[in-house]
Parts: sequence; C-alpha cells; structure tokens
Amino acid sequence: MKALVLSGGKGTRLRPLTFTCAKQLIPVANKPILGYVLDQVAATPIKKVGIITAPETGHFVENYVADGSSWNLDACYIPQKPLGLAHAVKTAKPFLGKDSFVMCLGDNVTGQGLAGFIKKFKADHLDALIILKEVDNPSSFGIAQLDEKGNIIRLVEKPKTPMGNLAIIGTYLFSNRVHDAIERIKPSWRGELEITDAIQEMINLGFAVKAEILNSWWLDTGKKDDILSANARILDEYVQLDVKGKVINSTIVGRVKIEAGAQILNSIVRGPCVIGRNVLIENSFIGPYTSVGDDSKICNSSLEYCVVQECVSVQNVERLEDSLIGKNAKVARSPRGRIIKLNVGDYSELEV
Ligand code: TTP
Repeated sequence: MKALVLSGGKGTRLRPLTFTCAKQLIPVANKPILGYVLDQVAATPIKKVGIITAPETGHFVENYVADGSSWNLDACYIPQKPLGLAHAVKTAKPFLGKDSFVMCLGDNVTGQGLAGFIKKFKADHLDALIILKEVDNPSSFGIAQLDEKGNIIRLVEKPKTPMGNLAIIGTYLFSNRVHDAIERIKPSWRGELEITDAIQEMINLGFAVKAEILNSWWLDTGKKDDILSANARILDEYVQLDVKGKVINSTIVGRVKIEAGAQILNSIVRGPCVIGRNVLIENSFIGPYTSVGDDSKICNSSLEYCVVQECVSVQNVERLEDSLIGKNAKVARSPRGRIIKLNVGDYSELEV
C-alpha cells in the first residue's frame, strides 16, 4: 500500500498567506499542518508517499518534506495543476501503479490514526473506504447518505438541500479500481474532477465501497478561523509544561511550552500555548490558545487565541485576538493615538 498526500490546490481562501507559502505549511502549534498528516502516515507500515504539489507553491513543500527521511518515509513529488482531487489521483497514476493507497489532504488533521481504517479496508477487501463525520453546515461539504445498515446510498458535493449531515472528510482508501471510475467521470460545474463523483461512480459500477464514522475530531484548515481552531485543538491535546527558555520576573500559568533561546521578561503567559525559539516576550500578556513562531518579538502587548508565525513583531498593541499573522509581519499601535497606518498585502483582511 502507498500514500498519496494532496499538497497542491489554489488556497484562495487563505490569501494573502498562500501567495508566499503553501497552505499546508501554515503552522499550528508552531508545526506545519502537513507535518501532522505525515506523522499519521509514518505511524502505519506504509513507506512510499507521493506528494501532490501545485506549480506556485510546490518548492515550499519540497523544501519542508525533502526526501521524507525525517518521518522515515520515502517521499516523491507529483506536480499537478489544481483541477480537482480526482484529477490529482489521475495525475498520480504512474506513481500509484496497481497498488491500493491511502489518500490524505495535506491541510486536514484528525485525532484518529490511519491504522484502524487500513485494517478494515484490507479485511473487507474494499475498493474504497471513505471516512465520515457529522457537521453542522452540510451545504459546505461532500455529504454521504447512508441506509439504516450503514451502506452508502449516494454522495453529493455541497448539497443545496442536504440529505444528511455526514461529511466526507479528507482521508480516503482506494484500490486501483478507482482509476477505472475516474476515467468515466466528467469535470463538474466548477471545472474540477471531483473525488465525490469518482466514488459515486465506483458505487454505480458495483465496486465494494464502505464508509466508517470518525470517532474523534476533524479539522479542515481551509480558512483563517479553521487554522485558529486547529491551533487551539492541537495546543489543548498535545502541549505540556516544558520551559527551555529564560523566564525573568514573569508568571507562567498552565501548560506552556517555551523553546530554547526564548526570553519572557516582566510578562504573563497563560497556557495552553507555545513560544518558539529565540522569541522575546516583554511587558506583555500571552493568553490561552496562542502560538508564537520562532524569532518573533512581542512587546507591551496582549494576545489571545492567535497564530503568530516566524519573525513577527507586535508592539504596543493593547489587545490582539483571533488573529493569524504571517511571517515577518509588523503590527504596532500608532504613536499618534487613534490614527491607523497600514501597509497591507493584496487580499488581506483587517478588523480595526
Ligand atoms: P481545497 O481546499 O478544496 O482546494 P484549494 O486548495 O484550491 O482551496 P481554495 O478553495 O481555498 O482555493 O483542497 C483540499 C486539499 O487538496 C488541499 O490540501 C489542496 C489539495 N488539492 C490538490 O492537491 N489538488 C487539487 O486539484 C485540489 C483542488 C486540491
């Protein structure tokens, strides 16, 4: 069995960050989301991973994953124009050959490993196993309708009138028969080869397709608020008190990870949160569910529920909440009181 990790796409909903970075590399708890996906693949016996990349951001992904040896995996890259998830599978056919495979979206994280799904896929000799999770807003997802025995009746991509609330999450297992189904489908109204259509075609062809309900959390980090929720969830699940940096005249409350070289001066840090390497926090309050990336400086400011990437400067900001701040950004209060001065990139969103 192989793994196919989708790390291409357009990332339009995460602009402007995706102009200079692949969306799968946006950090949550100071680690790129793609890193969590590869951790899950690495925890299975699978060794060969094909990584789908987009023309604009592929080199960032290649820089991060390299040959995959940091995960004890053997990684290769498959460039693709973002024309849909099923198109990604079609593009990866030379890599996949006749093998069955696990397909993971590089910007989706769950709290449940892949091992149980692989076991079921093999034991039941399936052609496709899809994983479902209840959602509150079914119109935003691919939705599966099941009968009372749990068999899939049909799948619909973003239904206007939902026929259930079980969304298809970003983990799929396929036999090589998926390629036959992909050959038979046509691009959807949005011009993409949809994986939902390919799976529906597998059902129509009478292939063995089953669904399993995820019994943990699932986060699809396609938008800013999703990144903040994923950050909060991962900080909550994994961070323990671990102080390697210097703490001077400051108070640390709860589960806080402070990396080597960081300095906390005259400040309060309330977990769960992570403070990266060589960060300076001075005369500030860092509240729960905040990640501060390496080499950032936070002075005379108060932050809560934020993802601050690397080399960011935040100065004299009374209160910053629910914010996602890209690398090398500078945020400061104007010395002239209420005046707001901006130098903001295309597609930025500001609430002042
Ligand atoms: P999406 O989030 O559905 O697509 P997108 O990246 O184009 O996002 P946006 O709507 O903001 O423009 O994609 C889910 C995952 O699959 C994501 O990790 C990107 C990846 N992907 C590919 O690798 N190839 C593709 O053709 C598409 C559509 C997505």
